[in-house]
Amino acid sequence: MKLIIINGPNLNLLGKREPTIYGNSSFEAYFEQLQAKFSEVELTYFQSNIEGEIINKLHEVGFDFDGIVLNAAAYTHTSVAIGDAIKAIETPVVEVHISNTHAREEFRHKSFIAKNAKGVILGFGLDSYKLAIQSFL
Ligand code: DQA
Repeated sequence: MKLIIINGPNLNLLGKREPTIYGNSSFEAYFEQLQAKFSEVELTYFQSNIEGEIINKLHEVGFDFDGIVLNAAAYTHTSVAIGDAIKAIETPVVEVHISNTHAREEFRHKSFIAKNAKGVILGFGLDSYKLAIQSFL
């Protein structure tokens, strides 16, 4: 089973960024825990702050991997292009968010990804990623 976690903009700052919302752990530290927990899964991780790089990665893995766990961060709420990329590929995508975006500002309630995702998991802190991986097993 080949899964990839793709993180969008500002998620490279997890652990430092607004810790009351996003927690104190870096994603790299959490990713090591995920690799240990799901040792049977070939798990890779990609992060970019650049919309086009996220699209290129979706194209690269989207006909080969078994699943994509995508936190497109702020691009979730703005990117027609990432939404289209998910439509264009074959690999199923689970949309995740660390925070409960529906309990936050109105502009975070809209997702260009959800419609074409296999499912959406949000509001469980970093464990949203763990739940998303479990959904593929
Ligand atoms: C986020 C929620 C988004 O609204 C925000 O722009 C992020 C992180 C989350 O994981 O909770 O950067 O995707």
